[in-house]
Amino acid sequence: MRKIIILFGPPGIGKGTIGKSLSEKWGLPLISIGDLLRDNVKKNTSIGMKAETFMKRGELVPDDVVLDALVDRISQEDASKGFLLDGFPRNLNQAQMFEKTIDTNDSVVVLHLVAPDHVLIERLSMRRICKSCGAIYHLKNMPPKKEGICDICGGVLVQREDDKPDVISRRLEIFRSETEPLLEYYDGRHKILTISAADNRENIIERIEGLALWV
Ligand code: AP5
Ligand code: MG
Repeated sequence: MRKIIILFGPPGIGKGTIGKSLSEKWGLPLISIGDLLRDNVKKNTSIGMKAETFMKRGELVPDDVVLDALVDRISQEDASKGFLLDGFPRNLNQAQMFEKTIDTNDSVVVLHLVAPDHVLIERLSMRRICKSCGAIYHLKNMPPKKEGICDICGGVLVQREDDKPDVISRRLEIFRSETEPLLEYYDGRHKILTISAADNRENIIERIEGLALWV
């Protein structure tokens, strides 16, 4: 049986941040499609070249590109007991395709993170990521020890290209129109747990740990 957690929520809600903590606590890999794509863009791979324009505009990358990358990643050994999914699925086609990779022994939980838009916009505009290892910071809430430098690897901190105001609005729009309706698809199919994610990381983790995820 694999334990599969779908971290479900809008841009900036903290899927990457919460996902990293849960992954360490639960010993399951965090699979972030956004990180995977950004890595491909950085390395100029064929996936990266196909994805880059869409990502810059805040649009979804075509399903075939994303699905190939996902199927390859979840078939790796470290994902055999389960995994946390960050940023997947994002539309009905992806959800239906993903369902075909699950068998009846797998246990799937959708962790639905919610917060008001002004919180998301503030988090996205103040976010910085490490250019080398992808670690996530926030200029006010989770600043690095040394300004502009990653605590973990010493890399340079940069703003994500899609964290500019006009791209942020486009991403939020796409979340509402294409991704959020998936909650209806999952209703009755898998357990959905809704968690308020507007306060600090420690409180959110505590709330998630207090939930009966697998019963
Ligand atoms: P992706 O990288 O997944 O972006 P996203 O979904 O827009 O989500 P973000 O990474 O922006 O936010 P997050 O929820 O991870 O928040 P974070 O933890 O960083 O996707 C990027 C692009 O790739 C897409 O637009 C698309 O083009 C493509 N793509 C990806 N998946 C795809 C798919 N399946 N299909 C097609 N295309 C796909 O936190 C945000 C900030 O807030 C940080 O600064 C953090 O430090 C801070 N923060 C987090 N939690 C808290 C807290 N509790 N309190 C205070 N601050 C906090
Ligand atoms: Mg993320």
